[in-house]
Amino acid sequence: MIISLQRVTKVYRMGEVEVHALRGIDLEVEEGEFVAVVGASGSGKSTLMNILGCLDVPTTGRYLLQGIDVADLDDDQLAVVRNRLIGFVFQSFNLIPRATALHNVEMPLIYGGQRRERRDRALAALEVVGLADRAQHLPSELSGGQQQRVAIARALINDPAIVLADEPTGNLDSESSAEIMQVFTELNREGRTVILITHEADIAAYARRVVRMRDGLIVGDERLAVTPGSEERWR
Ligand SMILES: Nc1ncnc2c1ncn2[C@@H]1O[C@H](COP(=O)(O)OP(=O)(O)O)[C@@H](O)[C@H]1O
Ligand SMILES: [Mg+2]
Repeated sequence: MIISLQRVTKVYRMGEVEVHALRGIDLEVEEGEFVAVVGASGSGKSTLMNILGCLDVPTTGRYLLQGIDVADLDDDQLAVVRNRLIGFVFQSFNLIPRATALHNVEMPLIYGGQRRERRDRALAALEVVGLADRAQHLPSELSGGQQQRVAIARALINDPAIVLADEPTGNLDSESSAEIMQVFTELNREGRTVILITHEADIAAYARRVVRMRDGLIVGDERLAVTPGSEERWR
């Protein structure tokens, strides 16, 4: 079990007002699963993802990551978890505009390793997403889909076991979205645990399991059958 959430709640306090973003989440994810989290805007998807990624902590309840209660980790240990175990992909790419694709991908390595080694690893990550030939391009010189592939390469640079993506295709046309989903499918086929948020059914259909949220609760958890014609991407 790579991820186990037990009765997790999240309450945001804004002055006098309390927002109950998560109201008791139980969720277990095995290593190597490919999970889509779906639900209406405001249902708690991003809050859940931020907790899974150790960017935020539950108000109550427990989060076990690889069997370890993240509440027992200090800030340095949490930073290592975020950097090494988890790769993040966001809707808005979050690339540095003045840095080349290569430099953007290298960024998480900036404090570690030799210059040459960083470069080689960044190039290898760009290769995985099919963009080795765009290494010297600035984000503005790339299409939206290519920018998101750079962001995925950056997320992969430390070879994370878990890839978390919050609406990664939300800013993309359907063709670019399909390319991005093929990249996630491939990462999952290599054994990585992939959890992505989407509100589009055709994006969720790439996953093997769909978790549905409503008003801070999980209201559906469905394993998808392998439909004819789709076995190919799951082999
Ligand atoms: N930092 C925050 N401070 C206060 N309320 C928040 C914050 N983040 C999210 N919320 C609220 O928590 C609820 C769930 O939000 P969110 O997790 O972003 O949902 P989703 O990603 O499904 O759209 C919403 O009511 C939202 O307004
Ligand atoms: Mg959200």
